[in-house]
Amino acid sequence: MRITLVDLKGGTGKTTSAVYLACALSQTGRTLLIDMEAYGSALSWSEAAPDLPFTTIQMPVKDLHKRINDLATGYVHVVIDTPAIVRPIARTALLSAEHAVIPISPSLLDIDRLNETLGLIDEVEHVNDLATSILLTRVRRGTKSVKATREALTEMGLRVLETEIPLLESYAGAAGTRPTDLAEYSEALEEVRKVKA
Ligand SMILES: Nc1ncnc2c1ncn2[C@@H]1O[C@H](COP(=O)(O)OP(=O)(O)O)[C@@H](O)[C@H]1O
Ligand SMILES: [Mg+2]
Repeated sequence: MRITLVDLKGGTGKTTSAVYLACALSQTGRTLLIDMEAYGSALSWSEAAPDLPFTTIQMPVKDLHKRINDLATGYVHVVIDTPAIVRPIARTALLSAEHAVIPISPSLLDIDRLNETLGLIDEVEHVNDLATSILLTRVRRGTKSVKATREALTEMGLRVLETEIPLLESYAGAAGTRPTDLAEYSEALEEVRKVKA
């Protein structure tokens, strides 16, 4: 399974989600995490936590889709973490996977910026049939903003995963450690598995 975490906005939870999903995927097969950020926060995370159950490489190239099959040799699963803003990188990452997961916080600001990312996914879909899901992260359960965000996204015709990642200190402080409790991310992965393009 190949999953790209994408959102042209920064700080939405891409790297955190990439690492947790890679942990969850590694339970069913050898997993490769490709960090496409030039400054490599997933790579730094993996350096600080050598016991992570997957392999991490940094590859900030615009033609990942031409290299992905070689890179993925020997791996069952690939997770791709992308940077904010850099369209050509996000584009090649989307061309390299069958699933796109967009993590966003329940805030109207994040929805505003989403169109840019969705536009890119539209372009790519002509070439690569992607299954796209939105993952709500940093969620304060039961708040009006979660409900409003979910409704707005659904109205936009988007697939929003039922699983929500709560706003928790354990996630905020997870960088550089091996996640022990995959909690919501295991559930999110089960949902993503079932999504068809
Ligand atoms: N569920 C969560 N609860 C609390 N903090 C979170 C959660 N997910 C991510 N964070 C924090 O939010 C910030 C942005 O997350 P990150 O995964 O680095 O986003 P991106 O890769 O999209 O820039 C980081 O400081 C991270 O630790
Ligand atoms: Mg990141």
